[in-house]
Amino acid sequence: MSAAAPRSIWSSRWAFILVTVGSAVGLGNIWRFPYMTGAQGGSAFVLVYLLCVALVGLPLLMAEILIGRRGRGNPISAMLKVSEENGASPWWGLLGWVGVLGALLILSYYSVVAGWIVDYIYQTVSGVKVMTPEAAKQHFDDLLADPLQLIFWNTIFLALTVGVVARGVLSGIERASLLLMPALFIILLFLVFWGGMVGDMRAAWHFMFDFKPELLTGQVVLSAMGHAFFSLSLGMGAIMAYGSYLDKHTSIAHNSFWIALADTLVGLLAGLAVFSFTFAHGLKASSGPGLVFQTLPLVFAHMPGGQVVGAFFFLLVLFAAWTSAISLVEPFVAWMTERLGIHRAVAAWGTGLAVWLLGVAVCLSLNDWSGWKLFGLNLFDQLDYLTSRIFMPLSGLAIAVFVGWIMSRKNVRDEITLPAAHFLIWWRILRYVTILAIVMVFVYRLTNPDP
Ligand code: PFF
Repeated sequence: MSAAAPRSIWSSRWAFILVTVGSAVGLGNIWRFPYMTGAQGGSAFVLVYLLCVALVGLPLLMAEILIGRRGRGNPISAMLKVSEENGASPWWGLLGWVGVLGALLILSYYSVVAGWIVDYIYQTVSGVKVMTPEAAKQHFDDLLADPLQLIFWNTIFLALTVGVVARGVLSGIERASLLLMPALFIILLFLVFWGGMVGDMRAAWHFMFDFKPELLTGQVVLSAMGHAFFSLSLGMGAIMAYGSYLDKHTSIAHNSFWIALADTLVGLLAGLAVFSFTFAHGLKASSGPGLVFQTLPLVFAHMPGGQVVGAFFFLLVLFAAWTSAISLVEPFVAWMTERLGIHRAVAAWGTGLAVWLLGVAVCLSLNDWSGWKLFGLNLFDQLDYLTSRIFMPLSGLAIAVFVGWIMSRKNVRDEITLPAAHFLIWWRILRYVTILAIVMVFVYRLTNPDP
């Protein structure tokens, strides 16, 4: 599929599901979900997250795809077009901008983490084995302390991402996903099975699913909602951009359901696997962004054939990160080519350069510049906090208001081809529950100002 006008349509319903799952499933599921769960006290975080996926994420996923398909354009043009069609102010176009620029901010640190994965593939293939938790921690700390290495891996990952967007070869990705996404799922299932054999699955299960209301804090609730947004790629134009290539006859509701389910399952599987090993090795669940990087290499080092399984696993995670990263750049590049008439390759590499520059600062914020902090957070954490806990939910709130209250019911109904009763359920959830939930989480967070 090429994103140049006239807009092409996905080759099949499956193609749309695959690329959208490709955007949703990524580091968010395999790296971020376990470490956030560990850092935010386990089950309280998981349960609020699941609730947010059902009441906020899924309804918004449908709303975003709807705007994309209705507007048939990059997120900025789509928002403008749908606003005009519904007699709304052109200011709604700003929402497209927030998404598109927010996506680039996410990419600047997302690709740094993806760079860690590239390093781990390299280390695993070259036979480096970390046999003890101390060695695993040391290895990760050494990587983070070395700005040149971080910048090097980040550059490779970003070039891979921008290369695809520059050539407009998403159809290649579509075909590769058909094989690699199920492979990732299978290897995760295997890791959960392995966790049941050699890890402490019981402890992992209790940690993730025993409800402990005393652990609920404003911070936990806000992070869990933020993660639902992050994991489903919401509020950043990515889903809107992909929705714009969707043909008229595909059901938005059914596809959204499967996308949300697949995304959530991958996160839960990754969490179960990681925690079963974390507890078995006596590691700390709350060790932060390094959790997966300190736990899994240890598991592979002790597993028969672990070098092959490990390399394969990290490769699949890299692929998942790659398809997500592509969806972070595509909306802005689509806007530049469609609106400004800039050549796709120039637009993509130019955007990549800007993101790379910010990425260099992110790499440095982990070592040489780690003393530079705002509200106690370095640039890496700042960007994550700002995008997932503020930009994405606020942009999601605006989308819910737009589709629920500003668009004419007839136009919405036209796109969501559900039987009347089912349509009403979704519409009411979006109009009331989703909006109220996001507002309440912000109010709760503001009135519970824990660290
Ligand atoms: N959902 C992706 C993940 O879980 O890794 C990250 C992401 C992609 C966030 C695209 C936002 C986005 F627009």
